[in-house]
Amino acid sequence: MRCPAIVFKGILWLLAGAGAIAAGMARAENGPSVPYVPTPQAVVDRMLAIGGVSAQDYLIDLGSGDGRIVVTAAKRFGTRGFGVDLNPERIREANDNARRNGVTDRVAFYQRDLFETDLSQATVITMYLLPRVNLALRPRLLELKPGTRLVSHDFDMGDWKADQYLRMAAEDKYSGAGGDSDIYLWIVPARVGGSWCAQLPVAGKAQSYELRLEQKYQQVSGTVRIRDRLIRIADAKLRGDELAFSFVADVEGMPVRHEFSGRVAGDRMSGQASLSGKRMAARVEWTAERAARSAAALPVQAERNTVH
Ligand SMILES: C[S@@+](CC[C@H](N)C(=O)[O-])C[C@H]1O[C@@H](n2cnc3c(N)ncnc32)[C@H](O)[C@@H]1O
Repeated sequence: MRCPAIVFKGILWLLAGAGAIAAGMARAENGPSVPYVPTPQAVVDRMLAIGGVSAQDYLIDLGSGDGRIVVTAAKRFGTRGFGVDLNPERIREANDNARRNGVTDRVAFYQRDLFETDLSQATVITMYLLPRVNLALRPRLLELKPGTRLVSHDFDMGDWKADQYLRMAAEDKYSGAGGDSDIYLWIVPARVGGSWCAQLPVAGKAQSYELRLEQKYQQVSGTVRIRDRLIRIADAKLRGDELAFSFVADVEGMPVRHEFSGRVAGDRMSGQASLSGKRMAARVEWTAERAARSAAALPVQAERNTVH
C-alpha cells in the first residue's frame, strides 16, 4: 500500500533538501513550491490553543490553503486576519469557506506570494510550509513586534528553539492516512543584547548598574557591573518584551538578592526589582537606558564571557 504520509514527507524533504531550493525558493515563478496539504482540523484547533489566539489578535496564515486556520480563528474567537496563497484555486476555496462560516467581515484571502506580504499587522502568524521556507522567513519574523506568536505545523526554525512544542496524533492527516503532527510556538523576542545603564534606589540611595546582555534569540545571559565588581546574572528569561533576571550583590557589606522583572520598549526598559537579604527586604522601581546595542543583529551567538 502506498502511504500518503510517506509520499508527502518524501516530497517535503526532497524539496527541502534539494540544492536547487535556496532560501526564498517558495517565491515560485511557476507556482507554489510548497505542496498543498491541509492541516487536520484537530491540529488547527491545537495550533490556535498553543498560540493563545483570541479576539484581540490579528492572525496571518502564510500559504493559507482552503483558509481553515484563519476561518476557524474568526469563527471561534472573533479573530481578524488574512491568508495568502499563490494558488488562485485555494483562494477561491478559502473565500467560499469564509462565506459558509459567516466570517467575511473579519477575514480576507489574497493571491499573493508570502515573501511579498506585509506582516507588520500580525500578532499571530501561522504556517505549514517547509523547513527551508521557515529558515528563509526567519529573519523577517525576528523583525516583527516583540511578543508576536509564530505557530508552525510540522517544521521547526533551525537553531531558533521553540518556546513551546507538542506532538499529537492526527487521524485525518494526509487525506485520512493518519500521522503525527508537530506543533511549534515561538514568541518574537525583544532585542536586548548590548549594554544598558540601570538605575534603582537601594537602601535609600540611587544606584547605577551597568548591565551587559548577550542574546541568542530568546536566550539571554550576561553580567552586571556595580562599581568595580562584575557579577554574572542568573535565571534570565525573555518572553517577547518581558525580561526577568537575578543576581546577588553586596549592599552595605551583606549579600542581597536582586530579582528584576520588567518590560523592554526599544532602548528603554523598566520594571520592578525585589531586594532581599538578612537586613533588607524591599521592592523598588528600576529603569534602564540602552548604552550600546550588540554589534551583531539577531541571532547573536551567546559568547562565553569571562567574569573578572
Ligand atoms: C502545506 S499547505 C498549508 C495550507 C494551510 N495553511 C493549512 O495549514 O491547512 C501550503 C500552502 O502554501 C501555499 N504556498 C506555497 N508557496 C507559497 C508562497 N510562496 N506564497 C504563498 N503561498 C504559498 C501552497 O499553495 C499551499 O496551499
